Amino acid sequence: MFSTKFSTFAIACLSLAVIPRTRGAIIPVTVGGPNGTIAYNPSSVTANVGDVVVFTFMQKNHTITQSSLATPCSPLANGFDSGFVPVPANQTSDFPQAQLTVKDTNPVWVYCRQTGHCQQGMVFAVNPGDKLAAFQAAATGGSTSASISASAPPTSTSASSSAPSAPPTSSTDHVVVVGGTAGNVFNPTNITAQPGDTVTFQFHSKNHTATQSSFGNPCRALGLTSTTGQVGFDSGFMAVDANATTFPTFTIQINDTQPIWTYCRQTGHCGSGMVFSVNAVDPNSFAAFQAKAIQLNGTASASAASPSNTNGATLPVRSAAGTIAFVGLVLGLVL
Ligand SMILES: *[C@@H]1O[C@H](CO)[C@@H](O)[C@H](O)[C@H]1NC(C)=O
Ligand SMILES: *[C@@H]1O[C@H](CO)[C@@H](O)[C@H](O)[C@H]1NC(C)=O
Ligand SMILES: *[C@@H]1O[C@H](CO)[C@@H](O)[C@H](O)[C@H]1NC(C)=O
Ligand SMILES: *[C@@H]1O[C@H](CO)[C@@H](O)[C@H](O)[C@H]1NC(C)=O
Ligand SMILES: *[C@@H]1O[C@H](CO)[C@@H](O)[C@H](O)[C@H]1NC(C)=O
Ligand SMILES: *[C@@H]1O[C@H](CO)[C@@H](O)[C@H](O)[C@H]1NC(C)=O
Ligand SMILES: *[C@@H]1O[C@H](CO)[C@@H](O)[C@H](O)[C@H]1NC(C)=O
Ligand SMILES: *[C@@H]1O[C@H](CO)[C@@H](O)[C@H](O)[C@H]1NC(C)=O
Repeated sequence: MFSTKFSTFAIACLSLAVIPRTRGAIIPVTVGGPNGTIAYNPSSVTANVGDVVVFTFMQKNHTITQSSLATPCSPLANGFDSGFVPVPANQTSDFPQAQLTVKDTNPVWVYCRQTGHCQQGMVFAVNPGDKLAAFQAAATGGSTSASISASAPPTSTSASSSAPSAPPTSSTDHVVVVGGTAGNVFNPTNITAQPGDTVTFQFHSKNHTATQSSFGNPCRALGLTSTTGQVGFDSGFMAVDANATTFPTFTIQINDTQPIWTYCRQTGHCGSGMVFSVNAVDPNSFAAFQAKAIQLNGTASASAASPSNTNGATLPVRSAAGTIAFVGLVLGLVL
């Protein structure tokens, strides 16, 4: 049933075709970002065979292009290349994505083909071992920059040889900014999402979480109140500097149209209304959920709070890998 969601391009050691069969981790990587960030975040990942690296193209106009350790800023013959993915500066959601499945543990070297970006250090690696610094230095040292041209990228293995005729189904990644200059809020506060979509929480400054709760108990982890054994997702605390330019992310998969209720576990935040919902419907609206959070955990309720309140700290913190299955491919980008 999942096969139509994915392209099935088979490229070098990387393939999209095996995604529906794997139980690998999802590893999110942002490409570019607000204010013209020229970087991949994170700049490298360690991945196991079967893991899926999901790239989210943010603002500007970048590529994901395979290169080599020796020549970081030149396309690898028969390597993969996303092509340019322009994203307007005013776009704040529905970012295009591409993904690649890790087929072995050899290093995979990647750069952005946009003029000057590689030389400014816009490189990325899967399983670089101890070679990441050397790769970055070779990129910014300019030793290979002269060979970059605007010519067509290397042709990768054609989709037609292995892809079924069905095009990739469109799904959406909803980016939600957590904290930052807007204060202790999720932005947007509430969204509507379809099964197959994803929600990527992008953590800005301060120290927040995105933790699943329930409508009845907005400020308590779902696992602490569920009568049906649900654990719920939890990003864990994401401490981010005020002057940070790259932001950690946490992605959840939307599996159905049931409402999803979320709050920040940081002391005082939920009680001040730092909550978020997916697919809230009247009478259990987002506004009602937020009002309940403030009513139950706001200053008015402070004196009633249990002294043994651990602020949710007993919740087992699960990695992104443990809480999401896989991410649908948004665009038919070729990796
Ligand atoms: C982007 O620029 C705006 C306005 O200059 C600033 O408020 C914001 O903090 C910047 N964001 C990042 C991620 O640097
Ligand atoms: C993206 O960058 C490429 C290469 O510089 C350029 O050809 C293309 O026009 C750009 N697209 C947009 C929409 O700016
Ligand atoms: C972004 O700006 C362009 C040009 O000003 C405008 O046409 C477009 O509607 C804007 N998009 C959004 C999402 O605001
Ligand atoms: C983030 O907040 C948590 C909970 O209050 C705290 O345990 C942790 O030390 C904080 N991290 C940083 C870096 O401030
Ligand atoms: C952020 O700013 C502080 C003080 O201005 C500085 O000490 C720190 O190194 C900066 N951090 C980053 C990541 O730039
Ligand atoms: C839900 O989010 C939309 C923007 O996405 C906002 O306009 C609306 O006010 C929010 N609803 C509530 C109750 O805050
Ligand atoms: C909200 O209040 C309840 C009841 O006192 C408490 O169990 C829970 O930990 C509080 N949540 C937060 C995030 O402080
Ligand atoms: C969606 O399903 C996957 C796989 O069962 C699960 O890991 C994930 O937590 C679910 N998403 C939500 C929001 O419950």
